[in-house]
Amino acid sequence: MKVYFDNNATTQVAPEVIEALLPYYGQVFGNASSFHQFGKASAEALLTAREQVARFFNADVGEIVFTGSGSESDNYVLKGLAARAEEGHMIVSPIEHPAVLRTARYLAKKLNIELTELRVDSDGLVDPDELKKAIRPDTFLVSIMFANNEVGTVQDMNALGTVCQEAGVPLHTDAVQAVGKLPINLSELPITYLSASAHKLHGPKGVGLTYIKRKNKPPINLIHGGHHEKRRRASTENVSGIVGFGKAMELSTADNYHREKLIALRTRLEEGILSGIPKTTLVAANAERLSNTANILFANIEGESIVMSLDFEGIAVSTGSACSSGSLEPSHVIRALGYDHGDANGSIRFSLSRYSTEEEVDYLIEKLPPIIKRLRSISAL
Ligand SMILES: Cc1ncc(COP(=O)(O)O)c(C=O)c1O
Repeated sequence: MKVYFDNNATTQVAPEVIEALLPYYGQVFGNASSFHQFGKASAEALLTAREQVARFFNADVGEIVFTGSGSESDNYVLKGLAARAEEGHMIVSPIEHPAVLRTARYLAKKLNIELTELRVDSDGLVDPDELKKAIRPDTFLVSIMFANNEVGTVQDMNALGTVCQEAGVPLHTDAVQAVGKLPINLSELPITYLSASAHKLHGPKGVGLTYIKRKNKPPINLIHGGHHEKRRRASTENVSGIVGFGKAMELSTADNYHREKLIALRTRLEEGILSGIPKTTLVAANAERLSNTANILFANIEGESIVMSLDFEGIAVSTGSACSSGSLEPSHVIRALGYDHGDANGSIRFSLSRYSTEEEVDYLIEKLPPIIKRLRSISAL
Protein backbone atom coordinates (compact mmCIF):
# COMPACT_ATOMS: atom_id res chain seq x y z
CA MET A 1 0.00 0.00 0.00
CA LYS A 2 1.24 3.53 -0.79
CA VAL A 3 0.16 6.25 1.62
CA TYR A 4 0.91 9.94 1.16
CA PHE A 5 0.59 11.87 4.42
CA ASP A 6 2.90 14.74 3.47
CA ASN A 7 0.38 17.12 1.96
CA ASN A 8 1.80 20.20 3.71
CA ALA A 9 4.96 19.66 1.64
CA THR A 10 2.98 19.44 -1.57
CA THR A 11 -0.24 17.91 -2.86
CA GLN A 12 -1.27 15.69 -5.72
CA VAL A 13 -2.58 17.86 -8.57
CA ALA A 14 -6.35 17.34 -8.80
CA PRO A 15 -7.50 15.62 -12.04
CA GLU A 16 -9.94 18.51 -12.61
CA VAL A 17 -7.01 20.93 -12.40
CA ILE A 18 -4.96 18.93 -14.92
CA GLU A 19 -7.92 18.89 -17.27
CA ALA A 20 -8.36 22.67 -16.94
CA LEU A 21 -4.72 23.59 -17.52
CA LEU A 22 -3.73 21.12 -20.27
CA PRO A 23 -5.09 23.20 -23.20
CA TYR A 24 -2.67 25.97 -22.16
CA TYR A 25 0.25 23.66 -22.86
CA GLY A 26 -1.26 22.86 -26.27
CA GLN A 27 -3.43 24.87 -28.61
CA VAL A 28 -3.70 27.98 -26.40
CA PHE A 29 -0.11 29.13 -26.17
CA GLY A 30 -0.18 32.89 -26.89
CA ASN A 31 1.60 35.47 -24.79
CA ALA A 32 -1.14 37.11 -22.71
CA SER A 33 0.39 40.54 -23.46
CA SER A 34 0.11 40.12 -27.26
CA PHE A 35 -2.68 42.00 -29.08
CA HIS A 36 -3.56 39.26 -31.57
CA GLN A 37 -6.16 36.54 -31.04
CA PHE A 38 -3.57 34.07 -29.74
CA GLY A 39 -2.64 36.49 -26.99
CA LYS A 40 -6.23 37.38 -26.24
CA ALA A 41 -7.15 33.75 -25.60
CA SER A 42 -4.45 33.55 -22.95
CA ALA A 43 -5.40 36.95 -21.49
CA GLU A 44 -9.00 35.76 -21.15
CA ALA A 45 -7.86 32.63 -19.31
CA LEU A 46 -5.85 34.80 -16.92
CA LEU A 47 -8.88 36.95 -16.24
CA THR A 48 -11.07 33.91 -15.52
CA ALA A 49 -8.48 32.59 -13.06
CA ARG A 50 -8.18 36.00 -11.41
CA GLU A 51 -11.96 36.06 -11.02
CA GLN A 52 -11.96 32.58 -9.45
CA VAL A 53 -9.29 33.67 -6.98
CA ALA A 54 -11.04 36.97 -6.19
CA ARG A 55 -14.31 35.11 -5.58
CA PHE A 56 -12.57 32.71 -3.21
CA PHE A 57 -11.24 35.61 -1.09
CA ASN A 58 -14.25 37.90 -1.58
CA ALA A 59 -11.74 40.35 -3.04
CA ASP A 60 -11.45 42.38 -6.26
CA VAL A 61 -9.57 41.12 -9.31
CA GLY A 62 -7.42 44.27 -9.06
CA GLU A 63 -6.16 43.15 -5.65
CA ILE A 64 -4.51 39.96 -6.95
CA VAL A 65 -0.94 39.74 -8.33
CA PHE A 66 0.18 36.32 -9.57
CA THR A 67 3.74 35.32 -8.65
CA GLY A 68 6.08 32.40 -9.29
CA SER A 69 5.56 30.79 -5.85
CA GLY A 70 4.59 31.32 -2.24
CA SER A 71 8.23 32.06 -1.38
CA GLU A 72 8.37 34.73 -4.07
CA SER A 73 5.19 36.30 -2.75
CA ASP A 74 6.60 36.44 0.80
CA ASN A 75 9.85 37.94 -0.51
CA TYR A 76 7.97 40.45 -2.66
CA VAL A 77 6.00 41.80 0.31
CA LEU A 78 8.83 41.88 2.85
CA LYS A 79 11.59 43.15 0.57
CA GLY A 80 9.28 45.47 -1.36
CA LEU A 81 7.95 47.14 1.78
CA ALA A 82 11.41 47.32 3.34
CA ALA A 83 12.63 49.00 0.15
CA ARG A 84 9.76 51.45 0.40
CA ALA A 85 10.38 52.23 4.09
CA GLU A 86 14.19 52.26 3.69
CA GLU A 87 14.54 52.04 7.48
CA GLY A 88 12.43 51.26 10.54
CA HIS A 89 11.04 48.29 12.42
CA MET A 90 9.44 44.99 11.40
CA ILE A 91 7.65 42.37 13.48
CA VAL A 92 7.36 38.65 12.70
CA SER A 93 6.57 35.51 14.70
CA PRO A 94 9.32 32.99 15.42
CA ILE A 95 7.36 30.16 13.79
CA GLU A 96 7.22 31.67 10.30
CA HIS A 97 8.19 29.60 7.28
CA PRO A 98 11.80 30.33 6.24
CA ALA A 99 10.44 32.30 3.25
CA VAL A 100 9.39 34.95 5.80
CA LEU A 101 11.76 34.33 8.71
CA ARG A 102 15.00 34.20 6.73
CA THR A 103 13.92 37.10 4.53
CA ALA A 104 13.17 39.25 7.60
CA ARG A 105 16.50 38.33 9.22
CA TYR A 106 18.34 39.05 5.96
CA LEU A 107 16.70 42.49 5.74
CA ALA A 108 17.56 43.26 9.35
CA LYS A 109 21.18 42.33 8.68
CA LYS A 110 21.58 44.19 5.40
CA LEU A 111 19.46 47.31 5.90
CA ASN A 112 18.82 49.83 8.62
CA ILE A 113 15.92 47.74 9.90
CA GLU A 114 15.26 46.39 13.36
CA LEU A 115 13.41 43.11 13.74
CA THR A 116 11.25 41.89 16.60
CA GLU A 117 10.46 38.18 16.71
CA LEU A 118 7.42 37.86 18.97
CA ARG A 119 7.04 35.05 21.45
CA VAL A 120 4.42 32.34 20.85
CA ASP A 121 2.75 30.23 23.55
CA SER A 122 3.05 26.44 23.85
CA ASP A 123 0.33 26.00 21.21
CA GLY A 124 2.07 28.36 18.78
CA LEU A 125 -0.31 31.29 19.24
CA VAL A 126 0.74 34.93 19.06
CA ASP A 127 -0.85 37.06 21.80
CA PRO A 128 -2.51 40.17 20.29
CA ASP A 129 -1.64 42.16 23.46
CA GLU A 130 2.04 41.34 23.01
CA LEU A 131 1.80 42.39 19.39
CA LYS A 132 0.25 45.68 20.49
CA LYS A 133 3.10 46.30 22.93
CA ALA A 134 5.73 45.48 20.29
CA ILE A 135 4.45 47.97 17.69
CA ARG A 136 6.52 51.18 17.58
CA PRO A 137 6.03 54.49 15.78
CA ASP A 138 8.53 53.35 13.13
CA THR A 139 7.03 49.86 12.61
CA PHE A 140 6.32 49.58 8.89
CA LEU A 141 5.21 45.94 8.70
CA VAL A 142 3.90 43.06 10.79
CA SER A 143 4.09 39.60 9.18
CA ILE A 144 2.35 36.71 10.95
CA MET A 145 1.44 33.47 9.23
CA PHE A 146 -2.24 32.49 9.02
CA ALA A 147 -1.60 28.81 9.75
CA ASN A 148 1.61 27.03 10.58
CA ASN A 149 2.95 24.42 8.15
CA GLU A 150 4.51 22.16 10.79
CA VAL A 151 2.03 22.06 13.65
CA GLY A 152 -1.10 23.48 12.00
CA THR A 153 -1.85 26.26 14.53
CA VAL A 154 -4.31 28.79 13.07
CA GLN A 155 -3.81 32.33 14.40
CA ASP A 156 -6.64 34.68 15.34
CA MET A 157 -6.05 36.87 12.29
CA ASN A 158 -9.00 39.06 13.08
CA ALA A 159 -7.62 40.02 16.50
CA LEU A 160 -4.06 40.46 15.20
CA GLY A 161 -5.27 42.48 12.23
CA THR A 162 -7.40 44.71 14.44
CA VAL A 163 -4.34 45.54 16.57
CA CYS A 164 -2.40 46.46 13.41
CA GLN A 165 -5.29 48.44 11.97
CA GLU A 166 -5.67 50.48 15.17
CA ALA A 167 -1.95 51.22 15.12
CA GLY A 168 -2.01 52.09 11.41
CA VAL A 169 0.52 49.37 10.54
CA PRO A 170 0.02 47.02 7.57
CA LEU A 171 -0.33 43.29 8.29
CA HIS A 172 1.04 40.67 5.91
CA THR A 173 0.06 37.04 6.37
CA ASP A 174 1.67 33.99 4.81
CA ALA A 175 -1.50 32.02 4.15
CA VAL A 176 0.20 29.34 2.05
CA GLN A 177 -1.09 26.54 4.32
CA ALA A 178 -4.42 28.12 5.17
CA VAL A 179 -5.69 28.73 1.64
CA GLY A 180 -7.79 25.79 0.54
CA LYS A 181 -8.25 24.50 4.09
CA LEU A 182 -10.45 27.18 5.64
CA PRO A 183 -12.56 30.13 4.51
CA ILE A 184 -10.72 33.47 4.21
CA ASN A 185 -12.90 36.51 3.62
CA LEU A 186 -10.52 39.34 2.80
CA SER A 187 -13.22 41.96 2.53
CA GLU A 188 -13.89 41.45 6.25
CA LEU A 189 -10.50 40.50 7.69
CA PRO A 190 -8.12 43.37 8.53
CA ILE A 191 -5.32 41.89 6.43
CA THR A 192 -3.36 44.20 4.10
CA TYR A 193 -1.17 41.71 2.21
CA LEU A 194 -1.53 37.93 1.83
CA SER A 195 0.61 35.25 0.18
CA ALA A 196 -0.58 31.91 -1.20
CA SER A 197 0.75 29.06 -3.33
CA ALA A 198 -1.11 26.75 -5.73
CA HIS A 199 0.71 23.50 -5.05
CA LYS A 200 -0.54 23.27 -1.45
CA LEU A 201 -4.17 22.95 -2.57
CA HIS A 202 -3.95 20.42 -5.40
CA GLY A 203 -2.81 23.01 -7.93
CA PRO A 204 0.43 23.08 -9.95
CA LYS A 205 3.88 23.90 -8.56
CA GLY A 206 5.63 27.18 -9.34
CA VAL A 207 2.67 29.54 -9.09
CA GLY A 208 1.65 31.78 -6.21
CA LEU A 209 -0.11 35.04 -5.55
CA THR A 210 0.01 38.22 -3.52
CA TYR A 211 -3.15 39.95 -2.40
CA ILE A 212 -2.79 43.71 -1.89
CA LYS A 213 -5.79 45.34 -0.24
CA ARG A 214 -7.23 48.27 -2.17
CA LYS A 215 -5.90 51.73 -1.28
CA ASN A 216 -2.70 50.29 0.21
CA LYS A 217 0.74 50.86 -1.25
CA PRO A 218 2.03 47.97 -3.34
CA PRO A 219 5.47 46.71 -2.33
CA ILE A 220 8.28 47.89 -4.62
CA ASN A 221 8.75 45.28 -7.35
CA LEU A 222 10.95 42.30 -6.71
CA ILE A 223 11.20 41.57 -10.44
CA HIS A 224 11.64 44.57 -12.73
CA GLY A 225 11.12 44.41 -16.48
CA GLY A 226 7.96 44.38 -18.59
CA HIS A 227 4.52 45.63 -17.69
CA HIS A 228 2.97 42.33 -16.60
CA GLU A 229 0.58 42.01 -13.68
CA LYS A 230 -0.27 45.71 -13.87
CA ARG A 231 3.45 46.52 -13.60
CA ARG A 232 3.75 44.77 -10.24
CA ARG A 233 5.69 41.74 -11.47
CA ALA A 234 7.60 41.51 -14.72
CA SER A 235 7.69 38.17 -16.56
CA THR A 236 5.45 36.54 -19.14
CA GLU A 237 2.62 35.02 -17.14
CA ASN A 238 2.59 31.28 -16.47
CA VAL A 239 -0.85 30.93 -18.05
CA SER A 240 -1.31 27.18 -17.56
CA GLY A 241 -0.14 27.42 -13.93
CA ILE A 242 -2.43 30.33 -13.18
CA VAL A 243 -5.39 28.57 -14.84
CA GLY A 244 -4.65 25.56 -12.62
CA PHE A 245 -4.45 27.79 -9.54
CA GLY A 246 -7.86 29.34 -10.28
CA LYS A 247 -9.41 25.91 -10.76
CA ALA A 248 -7.80 24.57 -7.58
CA MET A 249 -9.23 27.45 -5.57
CA GLU A 250 -12.66 26.91 -7.02
CA LEU A 251 -12.50 23.19 -6.14
CA SER A 252 -11.33 23.73 -2.58
CA THR A 253 -14.48 25.54 -1.54
CA ALA A 254 -16.69 22.70 -2.72
CA ASP A 255 -17.78 20.49 0.17
CA ASN A 256 -16.70 23.06 2.81
CA TYR A 257 -12.96 22.46 2.29
CA HIS A 258 -13.51 18.74 3.08
CA ARG A 259 -13.31 19.89 6.69
CA GLU A 260 -15.55 17.32 8.39
CA LYS A 261 -13.92 14.43 6.57
CA LEU A 262 -10.41 15.65 7.38
CA ILE A 263 -11.14 16.30 11.05
CA ALA A 264 -12.62 12.81 11.40
CA LEU A 265 -9.56 11.23 9.75
CA ARG A 266 -7.14 13.35 11.75
CA THR A 267 -8.88 12.42 15.02
CA ARG A 268 -8.73 8.73 14.10
CA LEU A 269 -5.01 9.05 13.37
CA GLU A 270 -4.24 11.00 16.56
CA GLU A 271 -6.24 8.70 18.82
CA GLY A 272 -4.77 5.61 17.18
CA ILE A 273 -1.19 6.79 17.71
CA LEU A 274 -1.54 8.40 21.13
CA SER A 275 -3.42 5.46 22.63
CA GLY A 276 -1.33 2.78 20.93
CA ILE A 277 2.18 4.12 21.54
CA PRO A 278 3.57 5.29 24.90
CA LYS A 279 5.54 8.54 25.36
CA THR A 280 3.86 10.41 22.51
CA THR A 281 2.67 14.03 22.63
CA LEU A 282 0.33 15.84 20.27
CA VAL A 283 1.74 19.33 19.57
CA ALA A 284 -0.54 22.41 19.71
CA ALA A 285 -3.30 20.19 21.09
CA ASN A 286 -5.25 23.10 22.59
CA ALA A 287 -5.17 25.43 19.60
CA GLU A 288 -7.44 25.59 16.58
CA ARG A 289 -5.46 23.64 14.00
CA LEU A 290 -5.62 23.03 10.27
CA SER A 291 -8.09 20.22 9.70
CA ASN A 292 -5.44 18.08 7.96
CA THR A 293 -2.42 18.49 10.25
CA ALA A 294 -1.18 16.54 13.28
CA ASN A 295 2.32 16.87 14.68
CA ILE A 296 3.32 14.21 17.20
CA LEU A 297 6.48 13.99 19.30
CA PHE A 298 7.95 10.50 19.83
CA ALA A 299 10.26 10.54 22.86
CA ASN A 300 13.81 9.16 22.59
CA ILE A 301 13.91 8.70 18.81
CA GLU A 302 15.23 10.71 15.86
CA GLY A 303 12.37 11.75 13.61
CA GLU A 304 14.44 10.96 10.52
CA SER A 305 14.64 7.28 11.43
CA ILE A 306 10.84 7.14 11.79
CA VAL A 307 10.44 8.78 8.38
CA MET A 308 12.80 6.26 6.80
CA SER A 309 11.16 3.25 8.45
CA LEU A 310 7.68 4.39 7.42
CA ASP A 311 8.92 5.04 3.89
CA PHE A 312 10.01 1.41 3.81
CA GLU A 313 6.36 0.47 4.47
CA GLY A 314 5.16 2.83 1.69
CA ILE A 315 4.05 5.63 4.03
CA ALA A 316 5.24 9.21 3.40
CA VAL A 317 5.41 11.64 6.35
CA SER A 318 7.93 14.28 7.33
CA THR A 319 9.96 15.65 10.20
CA GLY A 320 9.85 19.29 11.23
CA SER A 321 13.19 19.90 9.65
CA ALA A 322 12.28 18.44 6.25
CA CYS A 323 11.62 21.89 4.81
CA SER A 324 15.22 22.89 5.41
CA SER A 325 16.27 20.12 3.02
CA GLY A 326 18.77 17.80 4.58
CA SER A 327 19.06 19.88 7.75
CA LEU A 328 19.34 17.84 10.91
CA GLU A 329 18.67 20.85 13.11
CA PRO A 330 15.46 20.25 15.06
CA SER A 331 12.49 22.30 13.95
CA HIS A 332 12.62 25.99 14.91
CA VAL A 333 8.82 25.82 15.23
CA ILE A 334 8.73 23.04 17.83
CA ARG A 335 11.58 24.76 19.71
CA ALA A 336 9.68 28.08 19.70
CA LEU A 337 6.72 26.32 21.32
CA GLY A 338 9.00 25.61 24.29
CA TYR A 339 10.01 21.98 23.66
CA ASP A 340 13.64 21.09 24.22
CA HIS A 341 16.10 19.92 21.59
CA GLY A 342 15.49 16.23 22.41
CA ASP A 343 11.69 16.47 22.19
CA ALA A 344 11.89 18.41 18.94
CA ASN A 345 14.14 15.73 17.42
CA GLY A 346 11.34 13.19 17.55
CA SER A 347 8.71 15.34 15.84
CA ILE A 348 6.70 13.85 12.98
CA ARG A 349 4.19 15.75 10.87
CA PHE A 350 1.23 13.86 9.42
CA SER A 351 -0.60 15.98 6.84
CA LEU A 352 -3.68 14.56 5.13
CA SER A 353 -5.65 15.62 2.07
CA ARG A 354 -9.11 15.26 0.58
CA TYR A 355 -7.82 12.05 -1.05
CA SER A 356 -6.79 10.42 2.25
CA THR A 357 -8.84 7.45 3.44
CA GLU A 358 -9.66 5.56 6.65
CA GLU A 359 -7.86 2.50 5.27
CA GLU A 360 -4.68 4.55 4.90
CA VAL A 361 -4.95 5.86 8.46
CA ASP A 362 -5.54 2.33 9.78
CA TYR A 363 -2.56 1.05 7.80
CA LEU A 364 -0.36 3.69 9.47
CA ILE A 365 -1.75 2.88 12.92
CA GLU A 366 -0.94 -0.79 12.33
CA LYS A 367 2.59 -0.24 10.98
CA LEU A 368 3.82 2.45 13.37
CA PRO A 369 3.90 0.79 16.87
CA PRO A 370 6.39 -1.99 16.00
CA ILE A 371 8.60 0.58 14.22
CA ILE A 372 8.68 2.83 17.29
CA LYS A 373 9.32 -0.14 19.57
CA ARG A 374 12.24 -1.31 17.44
CA LEU A 375 13.75 2.17 17.07
CA ARG A 376 13.50 2.81 20.82
CA SER A 377 15.19 -0.52 21.55
CA ILE A 378 18.24 0.53 19.52
CA SER A 379 18.15 4.27 20.23
CA ALA A 380 21.12 5.93 21.89
CA LEU A 381 18.88 8.80 23.09
C1 LIG B 1 3.80 28.39 5.26
C2 LIG B 1 4.55 28.32 3.97
N1 LIG B 1 4.97 29.45 3.39
C3 LIG B 1 5.64 29.45 2.23
C4 LIG B 1 5.93 28.28 1.58
C5 LIG B 1 6.66 28.32 0.29
O1 LIG B 1 5.79 28.14 -0.80
P1 LIG B 1 6.38 27.74 -2.23
O2 LIG B 1 6.78 26.30 -2.14
O3 LIG B 1 5.27 27.97 -3.20
O4 LIG B 1 7.53 28.65 -2.49
C6 LIG B 1 5.54 27.06 2.16
C7 LIG B 1 5.90 25.76 1.54
O5 LIG B 1 6.31 24.83 2.21
C8 LIG B 1 4.82 27.08 3.38
O6 LIG B 1 4.41 25.96 3.97
